[in-house]
Amino acid sequence: MTDAHVEAPFHELTPLHASETPYDEETLRALHADADLVVARYPQKRSALLPLLHLIQSVDGYVTGRGVTFCAEKLELTDAEVSGVATFYTQYKRHPNGEYTVGVCTNTLCAVMGGDLIFDTLSEHLGIGHDETTPDGKVTLERVECNAACDYAPVVMANWEFIDNQTPASATQLVDDLRAGKEVRPTRGASKVCSFKHVSRVLAGFNDGLADEGVGAGGPSLEGLRLAKADGFDPYASSGEIRGDSDAESPADAPAPGLAGSTDTPANPADSKAGEKAGPA
Ligand code: FES
Repeated sequence: MTDAHVEAPFHELTPLHASETPYDEETLRALHADADLVVARYPQKRSALLPLLHLIQSVDGYVTGRGVTFCAEKLELTDAEVSGVATFYTQYKRHPNGEYTVGVCTNTLCAVMGGDLIFDTLSEHLGIGHDETTPDGKVTLERVECNAACDYAPVVMANWEFIDNQTPASATQLVDDLRAGKEVRPTRGASKVCSFKHVSRVLAGFNDGLADEGVGAGGPSLEGLRLAKADGFDPYASSGEIRGDSDAESPADAPAPGLAGSTDTPANPADSKAGEKAGPA
């Protein structure tokens, strides 16, 4: 990052910060220890880039220049290769992020159900626009694409936890509660919304054990399955027929016939060699 960049922030509420200050010894030691655990999960170390970038965010709050260099050295990549990945995905932040990312879905279904109105209401209430952060550093507001939660539209995400069936008033209450430090309970998943750094560590692959605290799938998500079962539909039938009277339980969490779960897929030696020449992640 150059001084010119530092003097030319994206916007006044989320300025670029110089991020080249080296990690202190203790932080660096902990980063290496965690990164070693992540890298060990992959047949090729460069495949660990995505979780390592989340790990950097769990420490720095965004992808810093020193974090880019750490990942590059750890994975034997160039800074440019790491930056190319970090700037491609919107979950990686290249400037300081708020303690809570509040993402309002303004994709088609949520938009027509009120998502645009919710975003505009929050933008005016907080005094910030897309990808900007409140002066207290608490909330970063974003427009987000479909969260595959259309059955609960309009949906707002708080650090990627679902807050379903929102209205401008309920979303305003949500951001007020987050800024006030009140505990916020998502509609599904974990029992509370955790901080951006906390969630980033989970995304890096360090389980906090909270994922199944709350409701997993609610009634609207399961309605199709209920109707299918009531109609005798067996999606796992191998005969090719789409209807049957099988009363076998639908293995909702089992892979489809012929497909192995990703954890069962062995590394292919031929692919491993090809992967050495492929791009990062
Ligand atoms: S359009 Fe908003 S969750 Fe799908």
